[in-house]
Amino acid sequence: MPEDPTPIVLHPPDVLIPVSKGGVSRGRAGWAGWPGAGAEQVGEADAPTGAARATMEPMRIVVLTGAGISAESGVPTFRDAGGLWEGHRVEDVATPEAFERDPDTVQAFYDARRRAAASVEPNDAHRALARLEGALGDDVLVVTQNVDDLHERAGSRNLVHMHGELNRALCTECGARPEWRDDLIHRPPCPACGARALRPDVVWFGEMPYDLDRIERAVVACDVFVSIGTSGSVYPAAGYAALASAFGARTVELNLEATDGLVPFDVARTGPASVLVPAWVDEVLAVTE
Ligand code: APR
Repeated sequence: MPEDPTPIVLHPPDVLIPVSKGGVSRGRAGWAGWPGAGAEQVGEADAPTGAARATMEPMRIVVLTGAGISAESGVPTFRDAGGLWEGHRVEDVATPEAFERDPDTVQAFYDARRRAAASVEPNDAHRALARLEGALGDDVLVVTQNVDDLHERAGSRNLVHMHGELNRALCTECGARPEWRDDLIHRPPCPACGARALRPDVVWFGEMPYDLDRIERAVVACDVFVSIGTSGSVYPAAGYAALASAFGARTVELNLEATDGLVPFDVARTGPASVLVPAWVDEVLAVTE
């Protein structure tokens, strides 16, 4: 009998939606010797580095980052105490309906975030990921949910901003996505078509994130999937660790606190990103160089 040619692909939801947690458990063997190998307990901060990585070539790494990686640069996270949503209901500033209803409030909110992001600097976690890419090249892809530009300012180049960028505008008339560093509240004209129809190029709830095909191809093909500074509260990003795991990748979480994901990470370390990420990068480079 011919094999069923239909591929089985775990496909996370495409539009940006909050996660409703289910919880599936799984276990995996292998990858002995890999950075973090043996540290299966969530919360273990000082997992053993392990010995040489003997047989794994090539090594493709997908790094998913969230607000936590920029926290120590001074960018507030969304869901921690003191987070960005405090004082703002999500549906008042991060939905297309909010923009339709009250564009000034939404523009003012993102204008303030754009200005704040311009005044901070990348931290050691951003720099470590740029160092990883510098050593391993295009085998490292950083997928960020962050709309700040701290990864690129640290030197990352193979980078996807799946939730858009504060430093771009989106023209709702012609679809242009010009680079944009100034406020938008005064309705400046679109440089491409002249319409006064620019909004922040930020993906709101209910909208489609950017570059999903590219991201999913990289996630299913990667050997290691690392989640840094994200609560796993929003799809489709929240589904990527499970997707990577289902396709055989080793999964690692580096976060201030352990998160309650769809599947457990193979390795979960808790602590500040500026400490955990450089240490983890050192371990990876020690077994790859
Ligand atoms: N180092 C590491 N992790 C940290 C740090 C730190 N210094 N500070 C906070 N964190 C962790 C928190 O413990 C939390 O788990 O970062 C995570 C931040 O989670 P969220 O605030 O939910 O941010 P994020 O996961 O990026 O949100 C995803 O939701 O609101 C939407 O589109 C928005 O991109 C955003 C998406």
